[in-house]
Amino acid sequence: MLFVHGFPFDGSMWTSQLSALPDGWRGLAPDLRGFGRSELNAVPGEVARGNRIGARIARPDEPVLTMARFADDLAELIEREVQGPAVICGLSMGGYAAFALWRRHPHLVRALVLADTRAGADDDEGRENRMRLAQVARQEGARAVAASMLPKLLAAQTRLHRPDVVQRVRTMIMGTRTETLVAALAGMACRHDSTAELPGIRVPTLVLVGEHDALTPPELAGDIVRQIAGARLVTIPGVGHLANLENPDGFNRALREFLVELD
Ligand code: MLT
Repeated sequence: MLFVHGFPFDGSMWTSQLSALPDGWRGLAPDLRGFGRSELNAVPGEVARGNRIGARIARPDEPVLTMARFADDLAELIEREVQGPAVICGLSMGGYAAFALWRRHPHLVRALVLADTRAGADDDEGRENRMRLAQVARQEGARAVAASMLPKLLAAQTRLHRPDVVQRVRTMIMGTRTETLVAALAGMACRHDSTAELPGIRVPTLVLVGEHDALTPPELAGDIVRQIAGARLVTIPGVGHLANLENPDGFNRALREFLVELD
């Protein structure tokens, strides 16, 4: 089982899921390229640069982390670590990377868990917002990015009553380098629209969404489920965009039920 984190977090966001997998399952939760302890340009020249590919968010000399790049990195990891295909669980940007993995390496995908994500590409307003956030990142750094994102990432209840979760999320964001923040914002802004490909997804699929997810609301999860034959939707009550951190028990229960049926 391969867990793919969202933006701008790292593999440690999956700690509670890794320890709750059913017997017989092994979990991997890598830091995507540039995030956590992973180098952005581990193999020089592999990361795209410039403002054409990066929807004009990255400057010509700045790197762009495309979803295709993440997908190819994940494919390499699966080929190295797993005998055969893996179940892919991606949250938000991790979901965008999961769609790209399905498109580019379908033979490596045994099943999909799509959490708090969307199939569509950014619209003009979404790209404008990313451009603004990239500028905040360059001028004021990750602390300001955390201040801007936190209210949208977590449900009001979480922000009020779970200071531990708020702090954990803030720490992950503040641990992300400015170069990575800008590169991933540019990569998400130019990502492929996966909507038309949903009916072609032929593996068991679970869609999870926080009841109060303000960034990828439950309607979007419903849109995904309706277009994938046999897909199941589970809404995690009382939580926002980071459902696995805000309500690990609810998230893990849905995940375990899905995995046990796959066995
Ligand atoms: C995430 O949680 O990965 C981001 O909210 C995704 C996005 O900005 O589209």
